[in-house]
Amino acid sequence: MKRVFSGVQPTGNLHLGNYLGAIRNWVALQEDYECIYCVVDQHAITVFQHPAELTASTREVAAGLIAAGIDPEKHILFNQSQNPDHANLAWVFNCIARLGWLNRMTQFKEKAGKHRENASVGLYAYPNLMAADILAYKATHVPVGEDQKQHLELARDIAQKFNNDFKTNIFPQPEPLILGTATRVMSLRDGTNKMSKSDPSKYSRINLTDTADDIAQKIRKAKTDPEPLPSSADGLAGRPEAQNLIEIFAALSNVSRDDALAANAGKQFSKFKEELTDLAVSVLGPINTEMQKLVSDDTYIDDVLAKGAERARAISEPIMADVFKTIGFVAP
Ligand code: TYM
Repeated sequence: MKRVFSGVQPTGNLHLGNYLGAIRNWVALQEDYECIYCVVDQHAITVFQHPAELTASTREVAAGLIAAGIDPEKHILFNQSQNPDHANLAWVFNCIARLGWLNRMTQFKEKAGKHRENASVGLYAYPNLMAADILAYKATHVPVGEDQKQHLELARDIAQKFNNDFKTNIFPQPEPLILGTATRVMSLRDGTNKMSKSDPSKYSRINLTDTADDIAQKIRKAKTDPEPLPSSADGLAGRPEAQNLIEIFAALSNVSRDDALAANAGKQFSKFKEELTDLAVSVLGPINTEMQKLVSDDTYIDDVLAKGAERARAISEPIMADVFKTIGFVAP
């Protein structure tokens, strides 16, 4: 059976990187897979979040996912903390994963930076919780952006070690699905840095909550270089900003990078940026409008999340019972 699981943190606005790298693919996968999508609030608190902001952000992200095309009736959408099986299995995985494995995680190194001693234990153990998210449902496929690849490899290692240690085959090896032309969308201010919610410059990212004017302004201000756009991929070498904007263009218009280059060869950035703005507004505008409607109705969103959590738990509960029995925990 093919089951998809993926998650997104409610630590601020959803941005174009989340949309092109992940959410758009989540929507498409609904056709062929049973999908479980999760607003991972327990991951969010690995770095302090103001409670009211966490609440608002959880609802806003859920609204964004529905507005983008996630169907919470056919598939499952919920927030992580409403199903305690994630934390339960994460504890088991804390006892399976090795310190050496976690020490290799580049995202922890980036996030903890120079203040490693001051980072929360949760931030360090974060990949174990992520493995638990996936394996609590025995998910087989995990659509993510490029930046999550290493965490996915760790989840596979954890699944395998659990199976080996306990001489079982409870857990599948989850496959990462890194799809499309924009698997790593870069900052609009610096084409060598990932577009991220934590970048202090608001001009570095386009949010799903941005108006058409915001989008136009951000694209106008996006860093570029003085050369016109090249006609082939070779001409993008050493031009990270040009490469990023072309990849965004390709992803938004659903064409390959080569086709996007062919369509824009020789153009000045000023002209290209106008076209990119129109394209971005045409794709993101309808999502934004729908999202505005949904965020004004907390009751609806909370109801979707609660019902989703109940359905999620119905899947994870028997799997957890099996895991506990395998470990040797006494249960009725
Ligand atoms: P998060 O919240 O940082 O991002 C959500 C999804 O968006 C993708 N993404 C990007 N893709 C392309 N370009 C970018 N600039 C960009 N920024 C973010 C991410 O790869 C991700 O797919 N640890 C995860 C959440 C998580 C999860 C899971 C994912 C928790 N448990 C289980 C899969 C399975 C995270 O922080 O994603």
